[in-house]
Amino acid sequence: MTNLLDKKMILNTDIINFDLQFEEIYSIINNHSMVEVTDIEGNIIFANKKFCDISQYSEQELIGQNHRIIKSGFHTKEFYKDLWSTITSGKTWHGEFKNKAKDGSYFWNKQMIMPRFDNKKTICGYISIGTDITTEKELSEKLTQIEDNLVQQNKNLQEKIKRKSDEIIKKEKLSMLGTMASRLAHDLKNPLTVVKAYSDILSRQLEDKMNYEMKMKVSKLKNSITDMSNIIEDVLDFSRTVELDLQKNSIFKILMIALENVDKPKQINVNINYSDIAIICDSKKIEAVFSNLLSNAIQALEEIGEINVRLTEEDNQVLITVEDTGPGILEDDMPRIFEPLFTTKQKGTGLGLSICKNIINLHGGDIIVKNAPTTFIVTIPKNIKKTNQ
Ligand SMILES: Nc1ncnc2c1ncn2[C@@H]1O[C@H](COP(=O)(O)OP(=O)(O)O)[C@@H](O)[C@H]1O
Ligand SMILES: [Mg+2]
Repeated sequence: MTNLLDKKMILNTDIINFDLQFEEIYSIINNHSMVEVTDIEGNIIFANKKFCDISQYSEQELIGQNHRIIKSGFHTKEFYKDLWSTITSGKTWHGEFKNKAKDGSYFWNKQMIMPRFDNKKTICGYISIGTDITTEKELSEKLTQIEDNLVQQNKNLQEKIKRKSDEIIKKEKLSMLGTMASRLAHDLKNPLTVVKAYSDILSRQLEDKMNYEMKMKVSKLKNSITDMSNIIEDVLDFSRTVELDLQKNSIFKILMIALENVDKPKQINVNINYSDIAIICDSKKIEAVFSNLLSNAIQALEEIGEINVRLTEEDNQVLITVEDTGPGILEDDMPRIFEPLFTTKQKGTGLGLSICKNIINLHGGDIIVKNAPTTFIVTIPKNIKKTNQ
């Protein structure tokens, strides 16, 4: 008898305890989670306080509205397809949802959606319980962003290091090559001067005794000597010390001297607009720049055409453009023409334009090229400071 009574008492306490626990659990769920109940079409029939607080809608605003009221537009069609196929087949769906609050801000939920069944065991609606994970999501988005940035920065840095080390290797190779070439050019210069002098003397002395064929051979010999001495001058110019001898000079005068120095076929016209601009520069070096640009233009024209040289002033700089009516430069070659040793000519050294760029840069200026018509544009500041060197 006592046994039976005891058992009953125990059972009662269990029920009381369970009631208490259920109330507690209910209040915990309400405080912690967003609870929403919808009908079978997703129309809201219940939303707890937490749901109202986070979505910023009042209970009145929510009841009767479709769940879509908080749709953010973030998720894909496939995402919804998976959700609906899970819950309409009677299973519970778990996942993370990005939603939109009344003021347009977004919030994230870790959500569980389960179907509700009527007494015929058919689905009559859905219950969703969600935990607000906005802070975690934002934090993880920020972390992903930081990680992406770091990965990108790392990639950029690696590319920069590769570019720089390639440049250094190239520079080292070029400087070694430059030293070798300049030694060779230096050693060849004197014997070549002797060869040139003797060939001049001999051709003068034998002028009357030579037939046409012999004269052609001597002319070829002289041309070859000129080619060789041009190459030697280019190589020496390239490796010469870069000290500038700065004086005030008329840019027009320098241009005229350069023009006298280049070999120009009669059918090539050089038109220069006279402009008396004086700048502080190294006249010998600027003369070398003009000679290079003019002889490149002459070579491009192949015997006939026009070269237009314009001198103009702009703010504190002088602008010199050398334009020719030649065939222009292949687009693929454009980025390379200022590189040392780049040439498309059989007898070219590929040093001319790199010497020009170097000289102009030493003057604090720049040189660029454009096609159609081929135009080299040189800009030099009028008052280069001596410290620029
Ligand atoms: N006015 C021009 N018209 C067409 N191509 C040019 C002109 N000037 C330079 N180039 C191109 O740039 C290349 C490099 O010129 P440069 O450095 O002076 O070397 P090089 O004259 O010895 O070839 C030339 O081989 C040529 O292909
Ligand atoms: Mg050249």
